[in-house]
Amino acid sequence: SRSIILDCDPGHDDAISLILALSTTALTPLAVTTSAGNQTPDKTLYNALRILTLLARSDIPVAGGALKPLARELIIADNVHGETGLDGPTLPEPGFAAQPITAVELMAEKLRLSPVPVTLVPSGPLTNIALLLAAHPELHPKIERIVLMGGAAGVGNWTPAAEFNIFVDPEAADIVFKSGLPITLCGLDVTHKAQVMAEDIERIRNIGNPIALCVAELLDFFLIYHKDPKWDFTGAPLHDPCTIAWLLKPELFTSQDCWVGIETKGEYTQGMTVIDKYQFTGKPANATVLFDIDRQGFVDFIVERLHAYD
Ligand code: BDR
Ligand code: CA
Repeated sequence: SRSIILDCDPGHDDAISLILALSTTALTPLAVTTSAGNQTPDKTLYNALRILTLLARSDIPVAGGALKPLARELIIADNVHGETGLDGPTLPEPGFAAQPITAVELMAEKLRLSPVPVTLVPSGPLTNIALLLAAHPELHPKIERIVLMGGAAGVGNWTPAAEFNIFVDPEAADIVFKSGLPITLCGLDVTHKAQVMAEDIERIRNIGNPIALCVAELLDFFLIYHKDPKWDFTGAPLHDPCTIAWLLKPELFTSQDCWVGIETKGEYTQGMTVIDKYQFTGKPANATVLFDIDRQGFVDFIVERLHAYD
């Protein structure tokens, strides 16, 4: 089983990512930490505790992270995720408390104690991960890989050039991509193809267990924002769960190793992931970039995982 730490900002798709990650013994979650992003840091922490309470997983330690990005003011996505950050389903109140330490302290402790290298799975802005890497160079060898949702090869969902997670904290992303650690980038190229359609949501609802019902309700709400005709979506792009799908079923994806740079200063392109697909720069690859996904296989994977909660 692969040891992982989930650093997230739930967030509808983050919540579904947690639900999928905790559905199998193939992954061993050592901790859940929260980032400020989709909502304010108090709300994303509260939401992580609510989701773990729903899953009866109070055994997994949770800690809240940085209150804002490294060098900028926080931007939140309440237009996508609502006032609570998880609008839609009725969720339980947290049945346990967060650890009285920071996300960086919890991640560092888990890495230090782990007998095997750990995979970090960030699905929000990379603030906590950058702080961890900067504060604890001695722990880099304990990090097997960073499998993150963020960026894209030339499209944006927050600006014409930038994806939300990278746009919120480009300085943090810059530190992560310069770290030399193995990285898998699940960007919009693949997550925009990982759409869940209305009929897929019905299939999920029909699974019938309480967790699957919660996922269907999360998706009902998530779909509303993506119905705006300005997008060319039929369904809702399920960004963050692509990280878990790649860890458990990499055969669903096509990928290419590329050099990726983070634009921190551009006039129009702040927060852009500059992905050197055609090797213009001659720089060595620093990330495995996912480009395509078997959408039907992805939906089948979600349905299969949710049956674990029957
Ligand atoms: C990313 O931004 C957030 O709104 C989602 O949770 C996802 O992590 C997509 O750009
Ligand atoms: Ca997220």
